[in-house]
Amino acid sequence: MKIWIAAASTLALLGASQALAQARKIDLGKVEYDGKCAHCHGPAGKGDGPTNAFMTRRAPDLTGLAKGNAGVLPVVMLYDAITGEKQVAGHGTREMPAWGTAYRVQAAEYYGDAPYDPEAFVRTRVLLLVEYINRLQAK
Ligand code: HEC
Repeated sequence: MKIWIAAASTLALLGASQALAQARKIDLGKVEYDGKCAHCHGPAGKGDGPTNAFMTRRAPDLTGLAKGNAGVLPVVMLYDAITGEKQVAGHGTREMPAWGTAYRVQAAEYYGDAPYDPEAFVRTRVLLLVEYINRLQAK
């Protein structure tokens, strides 16, 4: 329960920062999605990105996640699927990169020797993606 409240309030906060970003016409979640996810999951999240032609497993459609979960976006599942840190044993190898690790590498390259919190860096970006994917859900 607590995690849902935390997730909901974080999404609300992200919504607020999104509003600020939009005032400057920057959609941070979209920038992140377009740069890292669209080539597999498709520009609108329909699972029709061009990279699928080279993969053994297709990238799934991300627009029906809420519909398939009684109308509620499965935030925790999404978060874990994106970071790739909670793999289910026996599900074979993943085709999707583990973005948690990728973001930690990106943070290390960006900050170098300056002090920073790698987990905050990962969390911010993954939550931006979750918020953007929420907007891609089929009504
Ligand atoms: C190289 C292609 C590729 C890229 C890039 C990619 N994905 Fe995936 N994604 C997949 C595949 C394939 C799966 C199915 C599980 C697997 O094989 O890893 C998947 C699964 C998922 C799932 C689980 C969906 C479900 O119904 O279980 C989510 C959520 C997801 N991806 C989000 C993202 C996000 C967000 C990004 C960008 C940060 C991204 N993906 C980038 C290929 C990709």
